[in-house]
Amino acid sequence: MKVTVVGAGNVGATTAHILANKELANEIVLVDIVEGIPQGKALDMYSAMPVERTDTRIIGTNGYDETKDSDLVIITAGLPRKPGMSRDDLLAKNTEIVKSVTEQVVAQSPNSILVIVSNPLDVMTYVAYKASGFEKNRVMGMAGVLDSARFRTFISMELNVSVEDVSAFVLGGHGDSMVPLPRYSTVAGIPLPDLMDKETIDRLVQRTRNGGIEIVNFLKTGSAYYAPASSSVEMAEAIIKDKKRILPCAVWLEGEYDLNNVMVGVPAKLGKSGVEEIIQIKLNPEEQEALNKSASGVQAMMGKVNV
Ligand code: NAI
Ligand code: 2OP
Repeated sequence: MKVTVVGAGNVGATTAHILANKELANEIVLVDIVEGIPQGKALDMYSAMPVERTDTRIIGTNGYDETKDSDLVIITAGLPRKPGMSRDDLLAKNTEIVKSVTEQVVAQSPNSILVIVSNPLDVMTYVAYKASGFEKNRVMGMAGVLDSARFRTFISMELNVSVEDVSAFVLGGHGDSMVPLPRYSTVAGIPLPDLMDKETIDRLVQRTRNGGIEIVNFLKTGSAYYAPASSSVEMAEAIIKDKKRILPCAVWLEGEYDLNNVMVGVPAKLGKSGVEEIIQIKLNPEEQEALNKSASGVQAMMGKVNV
């Protein structure tokens, strides 16, 4: 199993580190445009392997030759928003980055599966889907696992119960319009509405929606990366081990959930072929409307990119 991680920044390097520590790949290639950074981080991680007792070879590079014949590629390359930059500027810049990265990845690894992490997530996944020319099952975006993990954390903190017993689903685009689903969120199988009043649920839902910005406000110089990396690895592990996990991922919809030609987060079965099935859960009218609204927002942004 060979995994390439593009972008050796906070999310990319942490993802590679977790993958290596879990020995999920025989070889990990870390790629970045900044000279020395992927090489240095990769050598540092490789040097931890004797201590971790895992046999993963990790190499860092500024090119793509070394990524040849990767089975799985996780794309985290991108710029954060800088002062004076509008969201549209960021959209244009990251589209350029993700498009060019995808083309270079695909030239070396035409049979790979792509997991996109770069923001704005749903649109960047669409850009990679288009730029790759891959079938829709081989291109997906990571956000729902992260947003659901945040919701699970806040539920566990509120009830003072183990995170292990909490499961939760957050669908829709990765942004303010994401759609946490309390009805499908449970603690040891008990639905959330049976455990908390509406005000508490609404508060946790809002905290989940603001989960990314809450961390940005603390860090000031960057955004979250530990939970994003763990979430990316959870998707990678499901694919590598052909686990058939049901995880919320940004996937290309063609009629599912009454949505067409949009890349947005819904539950998907992940295994060795990538997205092996889109799981259609029954939404009530309010939930469906929230998902439609979120998907329309993504579609509007998709219309602004040139791929
Ligand atoms: P970072 O700034 O620490 O790392 C980004 C890396 O990408 C940098 O090392 C940079 O040199 C590299 N890069 C830029 N252009 C490149 C190119 N053309 N080829 C290769 N590498 C290139 O940022 P961080 O924190 O790692 O975040 C990465 C991306 O992931 C951002 O777009 C961020 O918004 C997104 N993100 C998405 C999440 C999600 O839930 N989908 C969660 C967290 C972050
Ligand atoms: C997050 O949710 C920045 O999208 C990233 O933390």
